[in-house]
Amino acid sequence: MNESQHRRRVRSFVRRPGRLTPGQQRALEELLPSHGIEPDCADLRAAFERDAPLVVEIGFGNGQALAWMAANEPDKNFVGIEVHEPGVGRLLRSVESKGLGNVRVAMRDAVEVLREQCLPESLDEVRIYFPDPWPKKRHHKRRLIQPPFLELLASRMVDGGILHLATDWAPYAEWMVEALSAVPVFRLEGEPFGQRPSWRPSTHFEQRGQRKGHEIFDIVCRLTSDA
Ligand SMILES: C[S@@+](CC[C@H](N)C(=O)[O-])C[C@H]1O[C@@H](n2cnc3c(N)ncnc32)[C@H](O)[C@@H]1O
Repeated sequence: MNESQHRRRVRSFVRRPGRLTPGQQRALEELLPSHGIEPDCADLRAAFERDAPLVVEIGFGNGQALAWMAANEPDKNFVGIEVHEPGVGRLLRSVESKGLGNVRVAMRDAVEVLREQCLPESLDEVRIYFPDPWPKKRHHKRRLIQPPFLELLASRMVDGGILHLATDWAPYAEWMVEALSAVPVFRLEGEPFGQRPSWRPSTHFEQRGQRKGHEIFDIVCRLTSDA
């Protein structure tokens, strides 16, 4: 990253210190060496011993949805990207207890991973569930889903690849649809706010939103380069 990019970057997260449980600490120490992806790996696909469709989940939180999906779709490889250490520790514990061989983790800002560690046409699916909504107007610039980010994603996804977003924050759902309309290579599949697709389990933040009475919005689109 050059200096001007460095100055310009507004991040979509704030690092929360968050205490690690002894189990998470152990999982990080023992499992990150085998299941983590180092920042110098230039192609996420190289982290697996087999060729298989690659699904990336960005901001997996505690990783329970990712572990469920990876168990449910054993023919796909999954990379989870998350900056919150306790969440990574928790995911690694699930990977171990469920014996999941198809999960790897990048503990790094997803924007950097996409830019520096994903080759063009290397991602088959990208799933981003309940990204931080940054509800205050002055924080909207921190929202992950923005046209430049979508363009970065498009540049790394295969033609025909699927992008699946979900949120419980209605204004962010509208914002997502508007951002997608600015990047026409992404075509909505069906209605913008359809039913939850069968491959997505309920997530921790989704349940939190539901307890507050929030409606849930799923948005599925396909990368179509002839648009
Ligand atoms: C609101 S939580 C949702 C977690 C989970 N997907 C769920 O539904 O329960 C958003 C997560 O995204 C992570 N995150 C935000 N921006 C990120 C980025 N640029 N790279 C990696 N992780 C990010 C945060 O650390 C946080 O854990």
